[in-house]
Amino acid sequence: MSYNPFSSSVDIVENRNADFFEPAHAAYYNGSDNPFRLLLQARRDFLSIWPKSYYQEKVFVWKALGRQIVVVNSPKAIEYALVRRHDNFERKTPQMRRALEYLLGDGLFISDGETWRQRRPLVGDIIHKHRVPSFGPLMADSACDLASRWSKLPLGASVDILHEMAVLTAEIIARSVFGSQLGQETCRAVTEAFTHYQSHIDQVNLGYFLGLNEGLPIIRWPWLKRPVQSIHQIVDRIIESHIAGKGEHNSMLDLLLKRQHKNPELKLELEALRNEAATIFMAGHETTAATLTWVWYLLSNSPQVEERLLDEIRQVCGERTPTVEDVPKLEWARAIIEETLRLYPPVPILGRQNKSADRIGDVDIKPASLVLIVPWLLHRTETLFPDPHLFKPERFYKNRPISYSYIPFAIGPRICPGLQFGKVEAILCLAILAQRFKVRVSETHQVKPICRLTLRPKSGLPVTIHPR
Ligand code: HEM
Repeated sequence: MSYNPFSSSVDIVENRNADFFEPAHAAYYNGSDNPFRLLLQARRDFLSIWPKSYYQEKVFVWKALGRQIVVVNSPKAIEYALVRRHDNFERKTPQMRRALEYLLGDGLFISDGETWRQRRPLVGDIIHKHRVPSFGPLMADSACDLASRWSKLPLGASVDILHEMAVLTAEIIARSVFGSQLGQETCRAVTEAFTHYQSHIDQVNLGYFLGLNEGLPIIRWPWLKRPVQSIHQIVDRIIESHIAGKGEHNSMLDLLLKRQHKNPELKLELEALRNEAATIFMAGHETTAATLTWVWYLLSNSPQVEERLLDEIRQVCGERTPTVEDVPKLEWARAIIEETLRLYPPVPILGRQNKSADRIGDVDIKPASLVLIVPWLLHRTETLFPDPHLFKPERFYKNRPISYSYIPFAIGPRICPGLQFGKVEAILCLAILAQRFKVRVSETHQVKPICRLTLRPKSGLPVTIHPR
């Protein structure tokens, strides 16, 4: 690949024939290893900076502008950092904290220390797997609403499936968090504001690489201020109506307020409630939307996998619409989702800043280094997943990968508390929509995975929708 630091072009590999499908991924990096150029490239896209040699079980170290960067890519080393030495590696990177603090304050995703320890059980409890079935009808209703919107489209209509999935999952999470009376307009306004915010924040905090351990605060430009104000106003209004007793019983916000009543020492005041509600919304909507988008891309190119999915849905549900009770029986659908999360982990990089000096394997790590655990690399490491770039859901059918080799939801105490919610939601929405529609990516469209906080197809994913 010819490398030009001022161009954003990245070579994409994508191969298919009757028997296999190698979905789109960035070619192995073989450009300049000048750290400054690599940082520039990472700023545009974190997925395109990895040479072939990084796709192996190993711990790698390099330096950029004086900052030590450690890439941890072996199951054993990942267990060490994220589980055994969690206390030393729990802190998010300055780029992540700085990028999100304006919007999320001290919300769980970016907090650490005492705040994180206090809030984690609280948030974990309200989105716990035991509560997921109670959100099932709301998930199914939202998917059925979308199906009925699609059924009114002309035959073979074109849509951007990333946008469709973002609206769907935003509706589900917004109604779960804030209550099902939330109007579609408000849902859309919050979703658009989040998308706007993300598209304007930087991937790399240069201050951190230039020696500031805490990085530099982001500049609160008007284009960042507008979406933040809009989200804060909407969320505050909903919280206030909950406080005034007008909120929906058993929404996540309602559960948070009940906990605050029971444990006033938690000090969940308006701002903290807003931060946690906005965090759950953000963490729970983008990730599932990206997962579903990638599933449509993969299925569109894998007719046998899709046929087997339809057989399974027919066997489990007959002609009726799938429900949350069917999800445990939809094992092939689950395998498809899990394989999709292997190839396209929505959070492809888990970044940490260690507090004190440490040693992972035979690598000495200085305090405040940038420690990267990269599911994108790990999941495509051949010794862990043979034929790593191929789409093969059978890997996950009645089969589990080796411990710490598969981490789309992270692992250890900071593991995603919405894991069950997200998986059930993805399986259910897939089953409901696939039962009624065939979704096809245009053959001439070049799919480009890109990492901007989450891993998504660059410029969306145009598809055509065909009723079955
Ligand atoms: C397919 C869907 C999802 C994926 C792949 C996913 C992935 C992740 C990952 C990798 C993390 C850890 C990030 C890190 O440590 O740097 C995380 C954290 C988190 N996720 Fe999810 N997530 C998904 C769905 C959800 C849903 C549906 C919710 C809420 C209902 C949610 C709420 C959260 C929260 C609150 C955190 C922060 C936890 C903490 O730091 O203690 N996620 N997620």
